[in-house]
Amino acid sequence: MNEISTSSNSPESGRKIPMLKASDLRAILEYVPLYRNQTFVIAIDGSVIECDNFSDIITDIAVLRSLNINVVLVHGIGRQLKDAGLRTGTELSDVYGTNPVDDKTFALAHDVSAQVLQTVRDAFAAHDLNCVTTNAIRATEVGIISGVDFKNAGRTEKIDFHSINELLKLGMIPVFSPIATGRDGRIFRINSDLLAAELAAGLHATKLIYLTETSGLSVDGGKPVAIPVDKLQEMISSNRDKIDPRVFSKVNCAAKILDPAKTPRAHILDGRRFACLLTELFDKVGCGTMIYCDEYQKIRPALPDDARTIWNISEVSSKEQNLVERTLEYIEKTIDRYFVYEVDGSIIGFVSLLDLGGGDAELASLHVQEFYRNNKVGSKLVDFVIMKAKKSGYKRLFTLSTKSAPFFKNVCHFDEVPSSTLPQKRLEKYVQSKRNSRVFLKNLQEGSEAGNIQ
Ligand SMILES: CC(C)(COP(=O)(O)OP(=O)(O)OC[C@H]1O[C@@H](n2cnc3c(N)ncnc32)[C@H](O)[C@@H]1OP(=O)(O)O)[C@@H](O)C(=O)NCCC(=O)NCCS
Repeated sequence: MNEISTSSNSPESGRKIPMLKASDLRAILEYVPLYRNQTFVIAIDGSVIECDNFSDIITDIAVLRSLNINVVLVHGIGRQLKDAGLRTGTELSDVYGTNPVDDKTFALAHDVSAQVLQTVRDAFAAHDLNCVTTNAIRATEVGIISGVDFKNAGRTEKIDFHSINELLKLGMIPVFSPIATGRDGRIFRINSDLLAAELAAGLHATKLIYLTETSGLSVDGGKPVAIPVDKLQEMISSNRDKIDPRVFSKVNCAAKILDPAKTPRAHILDGRRFACLLTELFDKVGCGTMIYCDEYQKIRPALPDDARTIWNISEVSSKEQNLVERTLEYIEKTIDRYFVYEVDGSIIGFVSLLDLGGGDAELASLHVQEFYRNNKVGSKLVDFVIMKAKKSGYKRLFTLSTKSAPFFKNVCHFDEVPSSTLPQKRLEKYVQSKRNSRVFLKNLQEGSEAGNIQ
């Protein structure tokens, strides 16, 4: 997934360090205007702060700051609290600030939080970054829920977003711990995942990013690269038991606050992975799970500027004999016949609709970038072309395939027909090409089933 790199060995650690190529820098620069002056809230689990990669994460944050991206950081303390419990022989009533927090557990949480905060401060100092801690969070008690007293467990009562924004304007990185004070001076343990989500929502952060010890949301081994928030909510209600509890807390918080007008995206990344933040943000594929609620994915007519990207991608596919080889000049000339599937501003699939004359059309050049396959992108592009063809008054839609015949037959429900069914001129080209493709047909006449995109 992290195609940023070829690798070289780091002499100090013996670890493989991915190298950045000049072309990667170009790809990163594409995003610079998009993210400039935006705010990202980054929540780091305590376990990630303990891992070898923590210093690299701070380097990634330094890169974000150098690109004028505002960063707010929230740290967790779960791992450190567990360790302290073991070390002192204290039975913990709660690890993550979601259960009743008894006095002994609270005392440990308070101590380890101060230590973790110091580690974070030191790491920023080592990277010449200005961070700041504030009392902008006012907490209150969780209280008694269903007859259970949650004791020292707290929740946010009020957040002074104005002060936080002022600090961001000064180029500071506000750092928040999962310990906060109430109006009367009482201190509470709060949950860092929820705090990060609340900060993101209130600051209208463009991104809420969780760095944890898993590589994203996973149910039954399947890991979505990107999932719309409504699907996530369905998943949470139907598959709650199958979601890793570490991830559940994060996706649950994200699902609550994501809003297209405020915070449209949340990311869950494996913080142990080198350059995880930069890869997720600047690599077209990313490396974790993104939850979105904006117009993140869309099919649109291709523009002249898309021709080179389509050509580059087709080159790979034609080498694998999936697609007929097309020159850049051909694609530029016929760009108005192409439709592209865009994810976050990048083309990840495309298709073209060709006129064969006499009410016949051909669906051609269908391609989905390998990493995004099996996410229904291909079938959506096919549905879209069927709908377009039908709207344009075509009666029959052909498609030819050498390697993806079962996709057209079983997934898109085209009928396989003899090549002689093709219109005469197309048949001549078919014979000339000697590709011996299989020929499929979709009847678009009234009453026939033809795609379901409206
Ligand atoms: C064919 C292609 C466009 C499918 O895109 P996709 O986004 O992965 O497709 P979807 O996610 O909508 O559909 C996935 C389904 O199609 C099936 N499928 C995809 N490609 C297949 C193939 N070559 N043979 C058999 N089944 C295939 C998958 O197994 C999956 O089935 P399931 O839903 O029952 O699990 C993509 O694999 C591709 O770009 N291939 C290379 C180029 C190519 O062959 N183009 C077609 C010639 S014009």
